[in-house]
Amino acid sequence: MKIYLFVIVCFCYQLSVCQTNFNLQIPENKTLISKHIYGHFAEHLGRCVYDGIYVGQKSEIPNLNGIRIDIIKALKELKIPNLRWPGGCFADYYHWKDGIGPKDERPSMVNIWWGGETEDNSFGTHDFLNLCEELETEPFISANIGTGTVKELMEWIQYTKHDGISPMSKLRRENGRESPWNVTFWGVGNETWGCGGMMTPEFYANKYRLYSSFMTNRQNNNKIYRVASGAYGENYNWTEVLLKNIPKKLIEAISLHYYTSASGVIGAGRNPSGSATNFGAEEYFNTMKSALKIEEIVKNHISIMDKYDKDQRIDLVVDEWGSWYGEQPGTKPRFLFQQNTIRDAMIAGVTLNIFNNNARRIKMANLAQTVNVLQAVILTEEEKIILTPTYHVMKLFSVHHDAELINLKFESPLYEFQSESLKALNASASMDNSGNIHVSIVNLDDRESHPVSFKLPNFEIKKIEMDILTSKNLNDHNTFKKNDLIKPKSFEDYVFVESNLDFKIPPHSVMVIKLVN
Ligand code: AHR
Repeated sequence: MKIYLFVIVCFCYQLSVCQTNFNLQIPENKTLISKHIYGHFAEHLGRCVYDGIYVGQKSEIPNLNGIRIDIIKALKELKIPNLRWPGGCFADYYHWKDGIGPKDERPSMVNIWWGGETEDNSFGTHDFLNLCEELETEPFISANIGTGTVKELMEWIQYTKHDGISPMSKLRRENGRESPWNVTFWGVGNETWGCGGMMTPEFYANKYRLYSSFMTNRQNNNKIYRVASGAYGENYNWTEVLLKNIPKKLIEAISLHYYTSASGVIGAGRNPSGSATNFGAEEYFNTMKSALKIEEIVKNHISIMDKYDKDQRIDLVVDEWGSWYGEQPGTKPRFLFQQNTIRDAMIAGVTLNIFNNNARRIKMANLAQTVNVLQAVILTEEEKIILTPTYHVMKLFSVHHDAELINLKFESPLYEFQSESLKALNASASMDNSGNIHVSIVNLDDRESHPVSFKLPNFEIKKIEMDILTSKNLNDHNTFKKNDLIKPKSFEDYVFVESNLDFKIPPHSVMVIKLVN
């Protein structure tokens, strides 16, 4: 009996009956995957800004106006399209005027939400916006509506965007900046249902109407894209009430926050658990379950948006996403420093594929956070730097920036754990403006490789290039001693015959396939 079974399994494998077939279809209606889906987030939290991105001009670490040069280089290579700042929760107690003018005259402040640290305000509006220019990335400012006034926000907009004569553009010039910066994206408060003021959706909707009415720079014909502070996870009522109560002329986008947790519990960003590096099969499975959950969540918010905004004028902006584990032993409380393993690479791959596939509504997203906080792309220790597995996924996926979404049809095999199962494979595809096709595919199964076959009869393919990011163990990570254990490698183990591209995708790996036209 055992022998028979073995023969059947081998036969099935030989005939590739067990393989997953992928069919690619160019959709009739074009959808661009906005490059802004690949945005980042730098909050005044822990060692993200101070002692992360910004070390100050007097530091021995090579820097440009206080900003680490190695970080600038790494972020440039990532082609980051936008950077959200200054928070997060920090945003609603940040008063921008404290962060301009001579650095030694700036008042200090206490970062009440994140460790009670005293900050000297040496990293402010000029530092941030000049950094964005250096990175050729678009700034996304989260404005303070918790403890800040409408006037303060109007003045910040005038200070950054007004190129005529005005009190704020005069002040900007006095502080050494002649021309305005290009600041289109503005968040109107952050998590206003929580750290941003514990508001009800009805109260916030009214507050939003007030602040957003004065967020204009029409005299310069200078666009402002206002992002309403949206729901966390499955709080669909929040989205519904906002869309019912905010006039369309006052809103360009609504946001959503969602963190992946190791306990699999939704909303666990508020109550994180588990270790970033020390986890077993069950915790891994639960983390993948939590990561995949974002698909259902974005789809449900999108269907509410489709109900209230049939002509699709309002975008969905997932301006905080990523993994959030328990505090790493030996790190400062509330600094949210965590290492980053292959498990995080799976989360990044899965989430970005889901965003790509929902690019009709999702126009922007921000990974939390850029340096030394949560699912960081960069970790630093004194003069040393690590590019995390998540960095490499973001870089591999940058081929999708502003590319045209392609529909992928496939039936995923299952990844089973005890009595539960998840879809093992997750993918998205796009065509760039040279006609090259890119497919990003994740196998989140921790044990099995899965045979796949791409059916490509309708595509003229001159060359195939494949990259893979994986490692022997799920908890492998780059360290300050060995910073290149995990990096992408080219993958050659495929067969391309008669328009069929066949290969096996190894366990816990992320791949990007380039089909050159
Ligand atoms: O990214 C860390 C925190 O998570 C942010 O400050 C807040 O908006 C969210 O709760």
